[in-house]
Amino acid sequence: MRTRFCMTLLCLILLELAEVQGQHKMMDVFQPGSIWPDTEGKHINAHGGGILFQNGTYYWYGEKRGDKTSSGGVSVYSSKDLYNWKNEGIALSPSDDPDSDITLGCIMERPKVIYNRKTNQYVMWFHLELKGRGYAAARAGVAVSDKPTGPFKFVSSFRPNGNMSRDMNLYVDDDGSAYHIYSSDENMDLRIVKLADDFLSATTDDTFLFRRQREAPALFKYKGKYYLITSGCTGWAPNEASIHVADQIRGPYTLLGDPMRGPNAKKTFGGQSTYILPVQGKKDAFIFMADIWRPQNLQDSRYIWLPIGLDEEVPYVKWMDEWQLDWFK
Ligand code: DGJ
Repeated sequence: MRTRFCMTLLCLILLELAEVQGQHKMMDVFQPGSIWPDTEGKHINAHGGGILFQNGTYYWYGEKRGDKTSSGGVSVYSSKDLYNWKNEGIALSPSDDPDSDITLGCIMERPKVIYNRKTNQYVMWFHLELKGRGYAAARAGVAVSDKPTGPFKFVSSFRPNGNMSRDMNLYVDDDGSAYHIYSSDENMDLRIVKLADDFLSATTDDTFLFRRQREAPALFKYKGKYYLITSGCTGWAPNEASIHVADQIRGPYTLLGDPMRGPNAKKTFGGQSTYILPVQGKKDAFIFMADIWRPQNLQDSRYIWLPIGLDEEVPYVKWMDEWQLDWFK
């Protein structure tokens, strides 16, 4: 009896090891908070990320993390089905040049990529902190590529219209205009600035949204209204999310409350928002994406992907241990 138990245990361990060592098991389910193996069996390393859909493929850009301080640049993964992700390598690498704004040792966070139809280029914006200066620089960084998988070329970094810029997101509206939404003034303010036609710089069309000390902005549009999910500011520790609504992208935004539901909802299930993904080919289907940060070992940070419920007056996100895309009718 005991021997049989030991043998079964050994088999289970060997199976686990085989998976860890790269035999990919096709995924067909989202399991928020779990290890998410890529097609080589390694936990996806794309934190604080965002997704671009282009020519039938989703591209997931995120922070390539090592230990606490290192920033390995921006990684990119590709997928056709949103469950199975292939590592496409580093989209933007830190530079060897000590004079570069993105020299090795800088911090690159929350990268997002959008496609510019006029220039036929892929444009990446991210939160950049200069080497050795902690979080004091508070800049936006911009990089560009003619392929979605890169390599991206660093363009410049700056504070939009002189405003500090930390946690951020990008949003492309139905008319093709693109916006950078960002935490400013020591994270006290949230602002939105329209990008130039080539998406490579910020215009002076820069609007203060509200002063509520919010981070991690993620925007989606549903039935003509703009919904903005944000987190509080507690470093890597989770806190309560909120959702605002507006008729215009520049506001005014009205606070609707905390959209999270279920165990640990008051702490966003242990996570922090990063992006809201419209699912292609389905009407009004949005996935809320968040990071469960593990500051002692950032590469082991986990992902929360959950569908946004739209069957009530206010959009909400309900915890599920497991779910599939057919959740969307
Ligand atoms: C919270 C931010 O949302 C993260 O992107 C990161 O900057 C951490 N703070 C650092 O403490």
